[in-house]
Amino acid sequence: AQRARDAIGALTRSVADFPTTGVIFRDLTPVLADAEGFAAVVEALSEGFEVDAVAGIDARGFLLGGAIAHRLGVGVVAVRKTGKLPPPVLACTYDLEYGTATLEIPASALDLDGARVLIIDDVLATGGTIAATASLLAQAGAAVAGTAVVLELDGLGGRAAVESALPEGAAIRA
Ligand code: PRP
Ligand code: HPA
Repeated sequence: AQRARDAIGALTRSVADFPTTGVIFRDLTPVLADAEGFAAVVEALSEGFEVDAVAGIDARGFLLGGAIAHRLGVGVVAVRKTGKLPPPVLACTYDLEYGTATLEIPASALDLDGARVLIIDDVLATGGTIAATASLLAQAGAAVAGTAVVLELDGLGGRAAVESALPEGAAIRA
């Protein structure tokens, strides 16, 4: 995990006033583009989890989620922004640090009933995205085992929001 922290510290780019005024946007693209950084982050986020599937959140959670699922020897579910998946879908609309969004997963094509699922994303900000994903997975009958992100932004209440959205005892790793 120290290698991951070093890479994140060295390679994350912070951009003021993106995508809206007052937001300092943390861009992890250079961390994921770096061979050692990507490997270290994937290892740190995977370590110790025993799950049946990984859910990767649109869009940077796809990159991490695929690699983490492969490392854990399980499949990956892409949690999509609205309008990308054919019906029927399960949908959940939520508030972002900037604006609102809707996430979807297939309603009947996956057998997630009783599956232990690990939710993966790049950044935890207000927690709305992960909470919405947890809600979708619960609707599908899955048991959310935990969530892991590369970066947690302070001061936005994300940790508390995720704690109240995840089942008792679920892991929150950042
Ligand atoms: C960002 C980020 C997380 C989410 C975190 O995604 O990648 O998914 O916001 O915010 P929250 O904790 O306040 O919900 P964004 O919606 O910008 O989409 P993108 O990954 O497609 O750029
Ligand atoms: N970086 C990436 N995603 C985000 C951020 C950020 O700073 N804030 C909310 N979502």
